[in-house]
Amino acid sequence: MIDASSNIPKHVAIIMDGNGRWAQERGKNRIFGHRTGKKAVQNIVETAAKHKIDYLTLYAFSTENWKRPPLEVNTLMDLLIRSLKRELKQMLENNIRLQSIGALESLPVEVQKALQHTIEQTKNNSGMVLTLALNYGAHQEITQAVRSIATKVKNNIISPEKIDQNIINKHLYTRNLPAVDLLIRTSGEQRISNFLLWQIAYAELYFTEVLWPDFNETHFCAAIKSYQKRERRFGKTSEQLQEK
Ligand code: FPP
Repeated sequence: MIDASSNIPKHVAIIMDGNGRWAQERGKNRIFGHRTGKKAVQNIVETAAKHKIDYLTLYAFSTENWKRPPLEVNTLMDLLIRSLKRELKQMLENNIRLQSIGALESLPVEVQKALQHTIEQTKNNSGMVLTLALNYGAHQEITQAVRSIATKVKNNIISPEKIDQNIINKHLYTRNLPAVDLLIRTSGEQRISNFLLWQIAYAELYFTEVLWPDFNETHFCAAIKSYQKRERRFGKTSEQLQEK
């Protein structure tokens, strides 16, 4: 278990990786891995809420994932629709508010409808904010932010010298989220894969060999414990931090 009194990360983001390999190791197809991965999602959402994480952001489908075989893409969309419907009760019981980031307008209409419904139903919940990154890519997110700011400059709504970090933050999908404190990636891969590039500037990174379908409360707590031992300096020296 984790020490709840000390330094719990406010915002945890997870790259859920390894569903395909988990299934292949068992001689099954990749779809079986995603189905089991969905159960890990349910478990980790509940675990994070239980441990008083304020913001949990999950990388569920990237802008690059469309390149996968159509059957796999369709299954992921289908799993998402069914999960949103089935997990509404759990979200309400756990006081979780759902939101989503990404180019949502390009998702299948059924997914958009299921998302809108669950977001609407959970909008008054005051506990953990669960953000699903769907059709999300940081390059795409930053591009649309730049485009939107440029349009405002052109229309004399913003002057170029007023553009600062705060204005950029406000044009990202994550405008209502704090910066990421802890980024977890499962499955042993050590890369960021176009996830929240702006928002992880000072995040602590945690990589584990565990494949996503096996990732459970014990593994989640190990990541939090690792975070709690780290000194976050934000560019300062260790001595400066002691002086506080
Ligand atoms: C990465 O594993 C996982 C994904 C691309 C999608 C994540 C989806 C789930 C966890 C299931 C459903 C999610 C929700 C929110 C209901 P991979 O296929 O890249 O694994 P591999 O690297 O071993 O091939």
